[in-house]
Amino acid sequence: MNGGAVRLVAVNGGLSEPSSTRMLIDRMTAAVTDALGEREVAVEVDVIDLRGLAVDLGRAMTVGFASGQARAALDAVESAAALIVASPVFNASYSGLFKMFFDLVDVDAMVGKPVLVAAAGGSPRHSMVLDHALRPLFSYLRTVVVPTGVYAASEDWAGAESAGGLSRRIDRAANELAGLVEPRATSRPASNTRTRADDVRHDARGTGPDVRQQAIEAAGIANFARLLGPS
Ligand SMILES: Cc1cc2nc3c(=O)[nH]c(=O)nc-3n(C[C@H](O)[C@H](O)[C@H](O)COP(=O)(O)O)c2cc1C
Repeated sequence: MNGGAVRLVAVNGGLSEPSSTRMLIDRMTAAVTDALGEREVAVEVDVIDLRGLAVDLGRAMTVGFASGQARAALDAVESAAALIVASPVFNASYSGLFKMFFDLVDVDAMVGKPVLVAAAGGSPRHSMVLDHALRPLFSYLRTVVVPTGVYAASEDWAGAESAGGLSRRIDRAANELAGLVEPRATSRPASNTRTRADDVRHDARGTGPDVRQQAIEAAGIANFARLLGPS
């Protein structure tokens, strides 16, 4: 928190200039800021462009520790209230640079952290990268991944949005992340019908001994809800 604002960190794995992954990050950070604004929650967003950290990250992998700007970026991610992450699709998965960055984070600092996952690819056929690559990585890190992932293919930037509707998915994912960042501001079941998921979400923000188990349960509940589809 800074001056009462919730601090979110967005991680952009895009390499090009201009970068479609960065465009996706910008759309998502704006949507999350709006969603939290509607809940009267002030937000501060830091965007980390991994492109500029490539050499530092490579060195950190070989010497075993990160320093300089790479260390600062890892610190920012580890201390963030929530993350918005996006990788370009390279050979049907996340990019090597994206994976290298998250190989260097302190796994214990990630437990229970809400994460919105996204990817930008050339082809709409590779949207499953969200579910076969990004989601397992962030589940391994014991974060709480929001049910809606966001995928943008080249055609989504050409004006004609795919049937799924990029804007609709961004808004839905942004609202899900906002609900995890500030669960008290979201609509709840009436009075004494608190759900197990509500309890888990609240407790995952604490530092008690059961936080890790609760975060794992929360991720499981979210994944199960995703399988059931939109209500
Ligand atoms: C080495 C390489 C491999 C790629 N592999 C895929 C792929 O398997 N599937 C796909 O949809 N796009 C693939 N692409 C296209 C990129 O995902 C796409 O251009 C992406 O938007 C680039 O992101 P950026 O503009 O943020 O750098 C590949 C691009 C490169 C350079």
